[in-house]
Amino acid sequence: MTISKVLIVGAGTMGGGIAQLCAQRGLDATITDISQELSDQAKARIEKGLSKRVAKGKITEDDKNKVLAKIHTAGDLSPAKDADIVIESAIEDLDIKKKIFAELDRLARPEVILCTNTTSLSISKMAAATKRPEQVVQMHFFNPPVIMKLVEIMPGRQTSKETLKAAEEFGKQLGKDPVVCKSEAPAGIVSRALGQLLNEATWMVEAGVAEPADIDKAMKLGANHPMGPLQLIDMIGLDIHRAKMQTLRTVLDDPRYAHPPIVDRLIEEGRLGKKVGKGFYDYGE
Ligand SMILES: NC(=O)c1ccc[n+]([C@@H]2O[C@H](COP(=O)([O-])OP(=O)(O)OC[C@H]3O[C@@H](n4cnc5c(N)ncnc54)[C@H](O)[C@@H]3O)[C@@H](O)[C@H]2O)c1
Repeated sequence: MTISKVLIVGAGTMGGGIAQLCAQRGLDATITDISQELSDQAKARIEKGLSKRVAKGKITEDDKNKVLAKIHTAGDLSPAKDADIVIESAIEDLDIKKKIFAELDRLARPEVILCTNTTSLSISKMAAATKRPEQVVQMHFFNPPVIMKLVEIMPGRQTSKETLKAAEEFGKQLGKDPVVCKSEAPAGIVSRALGQLLNEATWMVEAGVAEPADIDKAMKLGANHPMGPLQLIDMIGLDIHRAKMQTLRTVLDDPRYAHPPIVDRLIEEGRLGKKVGKGFYDYGE
């Protein structure tokens, strides 16, 4: 399978990053969203980021222009007709993703593989919205996609071995070091294991074991983590963290994933994390 044209659905944090990654690897990357404007804004953010790297002397103006020339924008899914592979990275909402997959299935050539970058939604349910469930697979990138070396690849119930292999090869083509899961499970490997660690830290806050800053300090100094677990939850967003724990709790039917009341209380108080200036910590304006 030769891949030169990639369609990325969703022009947010991850979609923009994946498009930049593809373009930097010499592929034509089209970003699409619910409007042309959102896709153009994503390209403008990429341009801003690249300009900063030019100013710092990390890349040349020519490098920047070459990458930008490979990034195209759209306001609907019609570019799926020309794509060699599609990476869906829209908002984490199963109904929206199912609609996107049904439409992609209608538009894309029959041999084209449809990937999802979902964090914890069912790959099989997205695949069921298509007539090519054996060609639907998860390619889970990490933030920021340009830098993070890992891509997790996970099959849905009907994903073929050929599709898994092709996704792995494509991950390598993007310069990543992929890990391929054997079966479908919510939240993959990293988000599940990390989620449980972060959850444990919130239970320690609930139990009054130590102040959040001391729990973070302990994990940084004692476990060599670059960032404390509560700082990390603030970065991810308490609402996002709780949603993932709830998915794990429900889908795996395992009480180990239950979150403590302190997380609900902070969310009720609007302390959603760094994005709103307060979570476990206060960040000012
Ligand atoms: N943020 C992360 O660290 C991270 C990491 C790995 C995976 N993910 C997953 O990647 C996906 C995107 O996350 P994000 O952080 O980029 O979100 P985001 O909120 O930054 O962007 C989501 C984008 O989806 C668009 N969108 C909504 N409905 C759409 C539709 N019908 N068609 C096309 N686009 C639509 C929105 O307009 C928005 O631009 C989610 O599934 C998320 O779980 C996120």
